[in-house]
Amino acid sequence: MSIKIENLSFIYNPKGAFKKEALKNITLTINKGEFFGIIGHTGSGKSTLIQHFNALIMPQSGTLEVAGIKVVEGSKELKSLRAKCGMVFQYPEYQLFGETVEEDIAFGLINFIGKKTEKNPSGLTDQEIKERVKEAMELVGLSYNEFAMRSPFQLSGGQKRRVAIAGIIVTKPEILILDEPSSGLDPKGKQEILQLIRNLKETTSDTIIMISHDMDEIAENCSRVAVIAKGEIVMCMSPEELFTHEEALVGLSLDIPIVAKVRNALALKGIDVPYNRDYKVFAKTVAEKIAGGAK
Ligand SMILES: Nc1ncnc2c1ncn2[C@@H]1O[C@H](COP(=O)(O)OP(=O)(O)OP(=O)(O)O)[C@@H](O)[C@H]1O
Ligand SMILES: [Mg+2]
Repeated sequence: MSIKIENLSFIYNPKGAFKKEALKNITLTINKGEFFGIIGHTGSGKSTLIQHFNALIMPQSGTLEVAGIKVVEGSKELKSLRAKCGMVFQYPEYQLFGETVEEDIAFGLINFIGKKTEKNPSGLTDQEIKERVKEAMELVGLSYNEFAMRSPFQLSGGQKRRVAIAGIIVTKPEILILDEPSSGLDPKGKQEILQLIRNLKETTSDTIIMISHDMDEIAENCSRVAVIAKGEIVMCMSPEELFTHEEALVGLSLDIPIVAKVRNALALKGIDVPYNRDYKVFAKTVAEKIAGGAK
């Protein structure tokens, strides 16, 4: 398995006046090879949870194991954990800083693996670093020849986001975590980023964990989804099953895809049609069912 969490709780400012209980008793296992979604209302604790996964936040109570590494204060394996478990923050383009795209992408690689020196014989040579940056750029759909020497600040929003993602996947993380990767992009940009993430699942990181506010996005990509509300996991199941709990989701201010709403409304009338996120396939099945029933 990739991530095993047991009874994880977290309080911001535990001793201060602004004490905030952000996670309550979370127990969850995410398996290797999953495309796992996390959804929940704003402030529910999603970012706090995932920041534990690469030890940006250390567990206060409960246990956490990621890619075989126990996340505990003082562990010597935390650097290796961060290379194995890459984290793409929300609006990652705001964290670009390099003078060139190449420098920006190489930063994580040099930081986590290091340059080859007498003291670090397993480090990378300049040529190897260049090759790895080139490979990462190609994986995110940016031509090395065209973009490597450009300033990241002169790129479009979508291109900047690709540079930021390249800077994470350059270490070839087994687990890739993305905090709302499509937010703020136009519909075409959203589709492109999601296609890119699906490609990364096939090429570099076979376990993907994605926070999203968008149920369609979850339905299209995730095999399982956890719903977080007020710091607790209140549901964890496949999107198809989740969408049958429409009332509970509405109670949590979460909406479901329109096809799922139609499916649920038909089910109430005694017409059972399996959910299919492709509305054309769904409509055809409904039409066949109705025509069949009318015979
Ligand atoms: N650094 C912090 N100090 C104090 N409280 C915090 C801090 N970061 C987050 N919180 C609080 O903890 C709770 C969970 O926040 P978190 O950022 O994990 O939510 P989220 O589900 O990611 O929300 P969003 O969808 O808006 O990104 C919120 O009530 C938030 O106000
Ligand atoms: Mg968040």
